[in-house]
Amino acid sequence: MAYPYRHPSEVQLLSKHFGEPEARTLQGWVERGGYQALRKALGMSPADIVTEVKNSGLRGRGGAGFPTGMKWSFMPKKEPGKPHFLVCNADESEPGTFKDRELMRWTPHALIEGCLIGAHAIHAEHAYIYIRGEFFEAAQIMARAIEEAYAAGYIGRNIFGSGIDLDLTLHIGAGAYICGEETGLLNSLEGRRGEPRVKPPFPAIAGAFRYPTAVNNVESLIAAAQVVLNGAEWYKQYGTEKSVGTKLFCVSGHVKRPGNYEMPLGFNFKEFIYDVCGGTPTGKPVKAVIPGGSSVPILKADELDIGMDYESMAAAGTMLGCGSVIVMDEGVNVVKQVRRMVDFYAHESCGQCTPCREGTAWSSKILRRIEMGRGAPEDLDTLLQISDNMSGKTICVLSDAAAAPIVSSIQKFRDDYLALMQAGQLAGAGVR
Ligand code: NAI
Ligand code: SF4
Repeated sequence: MAYPYRHPSEVQLLSKHFGEPEARTLQGWVERGGYQALRKALGMSPADIVTEVKNSGLRGRGGAGFPTGMKWSFMPKKEPGKPHFLVCNADESEPGTFKDRELMRWTPHALIEGCLIGAHAIHAEHAYIYIRGEFFEAAQIMARAIEEAYAAGYIGRNIFGSGIDLDLTLHIGAGAYICGEETGLLNSLEGRRGEPRVKPPFPAIAGAFRYPTAVNNVESLIAAAQVVLNGAEWYKQYGTEKSVGTKLFCVSGHVKRPGNYEMPLGFNFKEFIYDVCGGTPTGKPVKAVIPGGSSVPILKADELDIGMDYESMAAAGTMLGCGSVIVMDEGVNVVKQVRRMVDFYAHESCGQCTPCREGTAWSSKILRRIEMGRGAPEDLDTLLQISDNMSGKTICVLSDAAAAPIVSSIQKFRDDYLALMQAGQLAGAGVR
């Protein structure tokens, strides 16, 4: 299958040039209309850029869905001698998520443009891209593109004769999931341990080096550049009234055509899995789907007839998150998948909060015991109790994220737990 596979239902605003190596070069990007958005933005006042992005309804694509223009508008008034910073969160580490990696691999100059436009909008003179440590290839491509853009005067002093100076630094992380949490990321950027900070204060008030900072996801910044170039009204033709625009969805697991798909928000989820992604390769029915990264509640097969937008997902009791879709067919015991995810969170917990540090470790041990056939029905009550203690009580949401799949799997796939317990009893695994 040629890369990338394109489906007619896709609307490629951001992913149009995936698969074109020439788009990675400055010349190739300019030939494709690149840097027009930056030229336009540098001729606009920061306030006008913020208003345009606000009017577009663009929401953060990292997972939380917080309105991008509103986030920028939270930045305080610029005071002389007090720098502002824009930090691009490119530490994409959510299990199942690989959209930002592809955006950077194929269209690095689009991200440079997005970062510079965002920086100008919030009165920052310096932007950082904090990229996940394991993204070796994407980091190399980004570094090369930044070097090229500096050499051509597209980054640096007096860009395009506008009198505006903007710098951009690529910072490579060291491979910790928690550094994708914005305040953990800021600590790491400053050379400290990547441990999340208590919020408030939010980064808009005390961010990088304790100065006002906007932290934006890769996809959000690239989309914002398109909004600036084409206008808020143009962007609003895609998506739904409250979930505007397109979104990249990364699909993995039991589908015939895994990969990245750029869909208008609101597209039917069932049609997406069965038609766009081709359904299961085994021919077995779909059993469960994690719709927005491993930290959101799991959906059952009969819950998929909903829109792929923030509101519809919330109404179904889950979240759109960062748009990573993991599909499981009837051959999967959901407990095994949940145990793997909880192991991941236990490993990645920074350890500052007791409910997270202990809760993820206990849950992992109990799930492992159940998986080995040595569980008992009362373990499910214990897991739910631990999950309750892990939710809404910690510095960051890693703890809640670990609890969400445990709770939803017990609520919706209890039979999978009981089947493992019964199989264990039959096999005489008994001893607990
Ligand atoms: P959040 O809802 O706390 O914040 C969202 C953004 O809005 C942040 O930038 C925050 O600073 C800003 N904000 C919120 N209220 C504000 C206020 N009153 N004043 C100023 N700024 C304010 O969510 P958070 O913790 O940043 O992100 C959690 C999400 O991240 C999860 O939903 C998860 O889906 C996603 N995630 C994505 C990953 C990935 O690899 N893409 C990895 C892990 C989690
Ligand atoms: Fe660290 Fe977990 Fe607390 Fe987040 S919730 S700060 S990862 S211990």
